[in-house]
Amino acid sequence: MGTYEDVYRASLEDPETFWLRAAEGVAWEAAPSRALDPSGAPFYRWFPDGRLNVCFNAVDRHVEAGRGEQPALVYDSPVTGTRRTYTYAQLRDEVAAFAGALAGLGVGYGDRVVIYMPMVPEAAVAMLACARIGAVHSVVFGGFAPPELAVRIDDATPKVVVSASCGIEGRRVIPYQPLLDRAIELAEHKPQKRVVLQRPQERAELGPDDLDWADLVAAAPPAACVPVAATDPLYILYTSGTTGKPKGVVRDCGGCAVALNWSMSAVYDIGPGETMFTGSDVGWVVGHSYIVYGPLLAGATTVLYEGKPVGTPDAGQFWRVAAEHGVKTMFTAPTAFRAIRKEDPKGALTAAYDLSRLRYLFLAGERLDPETYHWASALLDIPVIDHWWQTETGWPIVANPVGIEAAPVKPGSPTRPLPGWDVRVLDPSGQPVPTGVDGAIVVKLPLPPGALPTLWNDDARFVASYLSAYDGYYLTGDSGHLDEDGYLYVMGRTDDVINVAGHRLSTGSMEEALAAHPDVAECAVIGVADPLKGQVPRGFVVLKAGTSRGPGEVEAELVRLVRERIGAVASLKEVAVVAALPKTRSGKILRKTMRGIADGLDEPIPSTVDDPGVIETLRPLLRRPDHTV
Ligand code: COA
Ligand code: AMP
Repeated sequence: MGTYEDVYRASLEDPETFWLRAAEGVAWEAAPSRALDPSGAPFYRWFPDGRLNVCFNAVDRHVEAGRGEQPALVYDSPVTGTRRTYTYAQLRDEVAAFAGALAGLGVGYGDRVVIYMPMVPEAAVAMLACARIGAVHSVVFGGFAPPELAVRIDDATPKVVVSASCGIEGRRVIPYQPLLDRAIELAEHKPQKRVVLQRPQERAELGPDDLDWADLVAAAPPAACVPVAATDPLYILYTSGTTGKPKGVVRDCGGCAVALNWSMSAVYDIGPGETMFTGSDVGWVVGHSYIVYGPLLAGATTVLYEGKPVGTPDAGQFWRVAAEHGVKTMFTAPTAFRAIRKEDPKGALTAAYDLSRLRYLFLAGERLDPETYHWASALLDIPVIDHWWQTETGWPIVANPVGIEAAPVKPGSPTRPLPGWDVRVLDPSGQPVPTGVDGAIVVKLPLPPGALPTLWNDDARFVASYLSAYDGYYLTGDSGHLDEDGYLYVMGRTDDVINVAGHRLSTGSMEEALAAHPDVAECAVIGVADPLKGQVPRGFVVLKAGTSRGPGEVEAELVRLVRERIGAVASLKEVAVVAALPKTRSGKILRKTMRGIADGLDEPIPSTVDDPGVIETLRPLLRRPDHTV
C-alpha cells in the first residue's frame, strides 16, 4: 500500500481517486462513476450514482466466489454452553429465509426494523436480512430499559420489532418480553408486528401481534438481495447526545461497505479466511462495524461471543476463544482487560491456551490507560493497539494502521489520523493550537465514506450538534492535542457524555431521570474515575423544602429510578443528598469543578463561583479514595 505518509497524503490530496479505488473492493450492481458529491454541502454524499446491496457483499458474494464452506460466523456462548459455526453458505440461507419472513410481514425498501436482542447469531441474521431487502435496521442495546427503547421506537417508527425471549447476564436470565411490552406501551408509535426468537432458557408467552421466529422462517420463501442506492441508509444507531434525547446516527450503504471493507486490511490486517474476534455487543457501533459488517465484507470469520470476559465461567474466556477459533485480531474495550486483570493479575489463565495465532489486540471505546496497555503488552507479547473513533464515524479516525505500516507505539496515544480523516485541534476562536496544547478535536469536512451523512429525520440537529461550532469542521466532542510526531492524545469529552465500561452514556439523561422524582429540587450527575469501568456516574441531589424522608430512602429510590428509566447499563449506584450544589453567580452548576475534585485533580475554583463555601462542604463527599485516579 505504500508508507503511512504516502497513503495518508494521497487520501487527502485526491480523495476522488483514493475512494474510487477503495470502492473496487466492493461488488456493485452499478459501479459509481465518481466518489464525492459536494453539491449539498455541508451534507456530503459518497458514491452518489452507485448501486449495491450490502448483504450481498457481506454474504452471497463469498459463496459465489467459491468460499461457501468457509466459516463466516462462529457463535460462542459460555453462558449457555453453546458453540455453533455458520459457513457462508449457511449464513446466506439463514439470512435469505429471515429476509423472506420480514418481506412476508410487509417490510420492504426503506422500512425500519428495530432489533432488540441479546448476543445471539440471529441478531446478526436479522441485521443482514434487513440489508438484503433494503430495509433499515436500528439495533437497540439489550441493557437499555423500556423508556429508552420506546424513545427509539418513536423516532425510528419501525414496522416490525425483532426480539428474543430472554438475554443472559452471567447466571441471570433476563426475560425480554415484559421489557418489550412495556416499551411498546410507552411508545406512541405502535409497530405492526413483533418477531420473537424463543430461547430455551426462558420462553416468552406470545401475544396476538407476536410471531415465533422459527415458525415464521419455516414458512417463508427465501428473499433475494435488493440493490439500493449507495446513499440509502443501511441502519440507524442511536447514541447519547448532549441532551437526554438520543441521536439517530445514519449510516449509508455505499460509504459503510467501502470504508469497512477497506479498514479490515489497512487497520486490522484481516483478510479473507482469517478470524477476528470483537468482544463487544451488536447494540454498539463496535458490534455493527467489527462483529457483523466489517469481517463479513472482507470474507473473514467473525466470532460472536455471548458473555462477559470474566465470571461465567472464568476470566480465561477471551484466551479460550482466541485459541479455539484461531483468532488473529482481537478487539475489545480496555475495561474488559481491566476486568480480566482484576481476576487474574498474573494472566495465569493464558497458560492453558495456545495463543500463537493471535497477532494483534485492538482496544477502543474509552481511553486506554497506560497500566492496562503495559499489562496486556507484557502478557500477550503482541502489538496492543489503541484506536479512537465514535458511533458517528463508523470506523476509526485515529489508529496505528498495521495493515499499512505499523508506527512505534506511544502509550496514551491512539496514534495518527487514518487516511480520509483530516484531524485538527482548534482553540475556541477556531485557530489551530500549538503542538502539545489541548483544544477541541475536529475533522475538516468532508468526512470520509462510512461516517454519518446526517441524523435520522433531523438535519438541523446534525448541523447544530456537529457542524456549527467551527465552520467547515466536524466537532468530535473530544478534546486533546497532537504531539511533534503527529500523534493524537484524546483527553476527554467536552460535553456531558461519559464512558462507563466502554458504554457511551449521557449524564444529562440521568439528570432528567433524577429530576423526575417528586422530591428532587435540583440535581447534578458527574462521571468520576473508576478503576474497573473507567468512569462511573455519581448523582448529587438537593431535595425540595419540606421533604422529610428517612436516611437512604430517597437515595435508593433515585438509584432505582435511573435503572428503570435508562437501564442497568447506566451503572448509577450512588446518589447523595446534599444541602446545595455549587453554582456560578448566573446559576450554572459547576459540574466540571465537581468532577475535578472527585478525580483528585488540582481543580481551581472558578472566579465566577457564587458561594465557595458550598464547594468546601461538598469536597469530602466528592473526594473519595476509591474514586481517585
Ligand atoms: N442486557 C441486560 N443487562 C445488561 C446488559 C444487557 N445486554 N449489559 C449489561 N447489563 C447490565 C449488567 O448486568 C449490569 O447489571 P448490574 O448492575 O445488575 O450488575 C449493568 O448492566 C452494568 O453493566 P456493565 O457496566 O457492563 O458491568 P458488568 O459488571 O456487568 O461488566 C465488564 C463489566 C467490564 C466486564 C463489561 O462491561 C465488559 O466486558 N465490557 C467490555 C466490552 C464492551 O461491552 N464494550 C462495549 C463497547 S466496545
Ligand atoms: P462511542 O460512540 O460509544 O464509540 O463513544 C465514542 C467516544 O468514546 C469518543 O468520542 C471518546 O470520547 C471515547 N473513546 C473512544 N475510543 C477512545 C480511545 N481510544 N481513547 C479515548 N477515548 C475514546
